[in-house]
Amino acid sequence: MKILGIETSCDETAAAVVENGRNVLSNVIASQIDLHKETGGVVPEVAAREHAIRIIPVVDEALKKAGTTLAGIDAIAVTAGPGLVSSLITGTTSASVLAMSLNKPLIPVNHIAGHIYANWLDLPADTIQFPIVILTVSGGHNDLVLMKEHGNFELLGETLDDAAGEAFDKVARLLGLGYPGGPHVSRRAEVGNPNRFDLPRVYLDKKSFNFSFSGLKTAMLNLTKNEHEQNGTLTEEFVADAAASFQETVCDILSDKLLKAAELHNAKEVHIAGGVSANKRLRFMMEEKITSKYYKDHKNKIQILKNSPVLRYTADIKYCTDNAAMIAGAAYFLNKTVDNEMAKADPTLTLYQKA
Ligand code: KG4
Ligand code: ZN
Repeated sequence: MKILGIETSCDETAAAVVENGRNVLSNVIASQIDLHKETGGVVPEVAAREHAIRIIPVVDEALKKAGTTLAGIDAIAVTAGPGLVSSLITGTTSASVLAMSLNKPLIPVNHIAGHIYANWLDLPADTIQFPIVILTVSGGHNDLVLMKEHGNFELLGETLDDAAGEAFDKVARLLGLGYPGGPHVSRRAEVGNPNRFDLPRVYLDKKSFNFSFSGLKTAMLNLTKNEHEQNGTLTEEFVADAAASFQETVCDILSDKLLKAAELHNAKEVHIAGGVSANKRLRFMMEEKITSKYYKDHKNKIQILKNSPVLRYTADIKYCTDNAAMIAGAAYFLNKTVDNEMAKADPTLTLYQKA
């Protein structure tokens, strides 16, 4: 089954053709990063206008690269939410018109489900084993999810304030680095000392699988302010050490909570997904903790890991950040069509069942 996926929830106009939820035939992403660099973040009206200009050429290119035409597509999938409503509308309207005019099924997809199913792309059938605990973490969300089977998602924890990706973006701004912040902070961190600054590691209470990054952000604000006051500038060495210390703190919190949740739910696999899962240090730290069999608890004490879950993240970095292959993939496994209806853009769309 060939599904054409469309994704326009934020600042990437994307279309892809995926066969049977895993086999990526094309994955086209028109990034607006250069445009939003000027403002240091996404301006919704600017993003919406770009989506309207780019959507048709992007869909055309995705079909061409997949060696097919609209006639060869079995269904149209589209991100319905969450996201920026003015951005979502371009995708949902385009997908609805395509589905109606071609008389093909229309499958609205939750954006977070898309990120989760990115880990199925390019893998042989039946590779992944349930139950899985997933950390899906990007600029807009930061959720810990228990997945017992396809379509069954239980929210174990979420951020009480910022998502980790948003914190990376804000810290990049404080350190005078570019947009989006994650890759810039990560690059500087490679040459920095992660132990130079002792930053707050907020694990919340013993039972909580929620996250909070506002204290860490304030600590980074104070750190850079002090440095400015004392030296009048931020040296290369300071920026690298601050980036490394910040990244180490975030990765520690994310990986510890993920492994603790995996242990509690006897997960066969742990997955990381979303933009921040592109982070090399997070990937390495997860490998390291699983191999060495430990995580740290809410008091920052080492705990021994009894289970040995399989760790998965996408082989191709392009599947971590927003793309349409993940939307076409999720649509195949979730397959909830809305024949003859418009796909509604819903910025608050939720995915989770009650525990
Ligand atoms: O999934 P995504 O493309 O969009 C949302 O759904 O929000 O994620 C974008 C976020 C940005 O905040 C960006 O800074 C972060 O992912 N990001 C990273 C890295 N690459 C992207 N964060 C840390 N390290 C990276 N290498
Ligand atoms: Zn996303």
